[in-house]
Amino acid sequence: MSNSVRPENMERITTPELAAKFIEEQIAEIKKQVGEKKVLLALSGGVDSSVVAALLIKAIGKQLVCVHVNHGLMRKNESENVIEVFRNQLDANLIYVDATDRFLDLLAGVSEPERKRKIIGKEFIEVFADETRKLEGVEFLAQGTIYPDILESIKAAEGKKAVKSHHNVGGLPEDLNFELVEPIKLLFKDEVRVVGEALGLPHGMVYRQPFPGPGLGVRCLGAITRDRLAALREADAILREEFANNGLAEKVWQYFIVVPDIKSVGVKDESRYEGWPAIIRAVNTKDAMSATIEEIPYAVLHKVTDRITHEVEGINRVLYDLTPKPIGTIEWE
Ligand code: XMP
Repeated sequence: MSNSVRPENMERITTPELAAKFIEEQIAEIKKQVGEKKVLLALSGGVDSSVVAALLIKAIGKQLVCVHVNHGLMRKNESENVIEVFRNQLDANLIYVDATDRFLDLLAGVSEPERKRKIIGKEFIEVFADETRKLEGVEFLAQGTIYPDILESIKAAEGKKAVKSHHNVGGLPEDLNFELVEPIKLLFKDEVRVVGEALGLPHGMVYRQPFPGPGLGVRCLGAITRDRLAALREADAILREEFANNGLAEKVWQYFIVVPDIKSVGVKDESRYEGWPAIIRAVNTKDAMSATIEEIPYAVLHKVTDRITHEVEGINRVLYDLTPKPIGTIEWE
């Protein structure tokens, strides 16, 4: 698949019928490219890697080896969901690596955001490379590259704009030399979603909100501790549940909880109780370059506050971040 430029007359995939046609064409292409050989894929559970996995499972079944690395910074139930969908429902060849301790040990005491990102990105590649070396006969690496990634690389090559340091497996060590399989590289995100639905992936997976590669690592502000990370994960799960219950999950582009490393005094069971605040972020945007704040109904804010402060150990206040981008970025770190 050498051609990386989307032909001007390429039809936009907007319907299940067009998606089915695309899927059939890609299955033939993939079979032609890889033959009987094995293909490796880092499956994060994000939209792009999930759609590539589903496409490859359809094309070559167990010749695809998916590796899901849990860096310990996933949202609640996220890794479990990847296992449920791909191993149990789609019968994929899936290797699950729980590398939580490796990541959290390396991150202990590290408070500088860019250092945290670098550690997470580098360790991800190392864990993935370690797993890869255990496998035999793999010649291909599938990637969920999409057309905006290609456009960004073209811009970067022309020196127009620095590429954002994204969390993927672009920088594998030299001894791991694979031919790439990139079946969705000419598609835009909305088309990837239509294809994902046509492949039968769960709606929630296909329309999942963006989630940064370093995961909850950049939302547990400052030096990550296991107890504060656990509180963040629970509070985030409550926010997501309440957004889903109140019709906000598909309306709001990105929403999550941030937990800073500060404590304030509160009362619980009539005694002093020191806890962290949970900060709600809920933004709308087209391209993540600028963002506006979603006006969350007061009743939802009230419910979320009530649930988080009662159900999450360690949290005693809930705040709502009203800062647009600019001046704030979407993530706090
Ligand atoms: P900011 O915080 O820069 O975020 O306004 C813009 C979008 O990018 C996501 N983001 C990241 N994605 N690796 C990623 O893959 C990262 O290190 C990272 N940092 C921010 C953020 O969630 C938002 O959607």
